[in-house]
Amino acid sequence: MNLNKNELRPLMGEGRKLFVETYGCQMNVGDTEIVVAVMQQEGYFYTDRIEEADVVLINTCSIRDNAEQRIWGRLSEMRRYRRQKPSLVVGVIGCMAERLKEKLVDGDYGVDVVAGPDTYRDLPRLIHAAEAGGKGVNVQLSLEETYAEIAPVRLDRNGVSAFVSIMRGCDNFCSYCVVPYTRGRERSRDAETIVAEARTLFENGYREVTLLGQNVNSYRTGDVDFPELMRRVASISPLLRVRFATSHPKDMSDKLLEVMASMPNICRSIHLPAQSGATSMLERMNRKYTREWYLGRVAAIRHYMPDCAITTDLIAGFTDETEEEHEATISLMKQVGYDFAYMFKYSERPGTFAQKHLPDNVPDEVKSRRLQEIITLQNELSLESNRRDVGREFEILVESVSKRSEEQLSGRTSQNKMVVFDRGDHKIGDYVRVRITDCSSATLFGEEIFQ
Ligand code: 5AD
Ligand code: SF4
Repeated sequence: MNLNKNELRPLMGEGRKLFVETYGCQMNVGDTEIVVAVMQQEGYFYTDRIEEADVVLINTCSIRDNAEQRIWGRLSEMRRYRRQKPSLVVGVIGCMAERLKEKLVDGDYGVDVVAGPDTYRDLPRLIHAAEAGGKGVNVQLSLEETYAEIAPVRLDRNGVSAFVSIMRGCDNFCSYCVVPYTRGRERSRDAETIVAEARTLFENGYREVTLLGQNVNSYRTGDVDFPELMRRVASISPLLRVRFATSHPKDMSDKLLEVMASMPNICRSIHLPAQSGATSMLERMNRKYTREWYLGRVAAIRHYMPDCAITTDLIAGFTDETEEEHEATISLMKQVGYDFAYMFKYSERPGTFAQKHLPDNVPDEVKSRRLQEIITLQNELSLESNRRDVGREFEILVESVSKRSEEQLSGRTSQNKMVVFDRGDHKIGDYVRVRITDCSSATLFGEEIFQ
């Protein structure tokens, strides 16, 4: 099956219409584009207006309880659309579908279709079953499915940067995390199909690809490992920027850093989730590294690429977290000087090792206070990081018209920082050299350098 080889844009038109709403991580964004490709092949048209949809799919996330709560709220709002159009088919796909399975159609939630992350080729059948008045459920996980030859229908619309899924699932079993249960075992997609997809994107005007996986740097097929794959994708053209997310520190090898350093179009930006700065905590989290080992990887990154941005994920208030362990996270943040971080309060997830053996025992007020402390510190670190860039020159890839003014464009540096600058005669997709003149903690402001 070879779906929509050159059809990079959603097909809009007359006929049965599909609307998809996406929550959660970038993997889900990528999966939605695969779902639209599968459904388009079946004759459905994509719509970005829920009011005119015949089928609504909600691509869901289970990572924290508040992600699921938001989706429950959205499902109850669906009742309104159903009243207007009784034939409307509502499906829940993605991680929550995998976690809750039949419970979603058995309860009175107004859900007709439940499809787990490895069953998207089966969606047409499941939806037909619902259209015939029944229910469609498939939550089978797969050891092989990578949707390798399905050309995703790009929904992003800027036409400049795209996600390319290169592997699925996760075998790490961090004790707090639901992903190994909702997305199943780790498997990598054939390298040739990945390079071909990235090349097609480049030929269609895209200038940046982000290689995606839950655990992207443990990619391997045959004798192609992640550094080799990066080299192949980055060799398509020096004008194609390559990024990747998300990596596990254990797989941040010197070989990968060498390849990155040798190719200027591989972006100088590494997301390296630490989760905690205390070795004792990392052990409870089953992260398989110590604070010292992690700092060793940071030193290696700085050695190979002194200008590389380092960002992270941190969890506040995991089981038994002491004040000393929290302070160790604070000191790690200062020591690394992260450019950016995603920070979360621990949320116990059903079925995980922690839920069974490490009961959630840090009081909510303590979790909130610690989270607030790390957020406050990160805001300072992000501002410092941006201030260091003032006066420096960067090449940016223009992604969009600035939100604030039509006369300004915004784009990213290799370090993944957003820069706003005066439009001049530039357009989306151009590379522009700018000098940074000012900043906030979230954005850099720059002016074009004319040679
Ligand atoms: N509670 C809070 N945060 C979590 N994450 C994963 N599981 C949980 C949980 N149960 C965070 C981690 C991960 C990011 C995607 O979400 O920091 O890196
Ligand atoms: Fe959420 Fe994790 Fe599933 Fe992504 S893989 S949608 S972050 S639960």
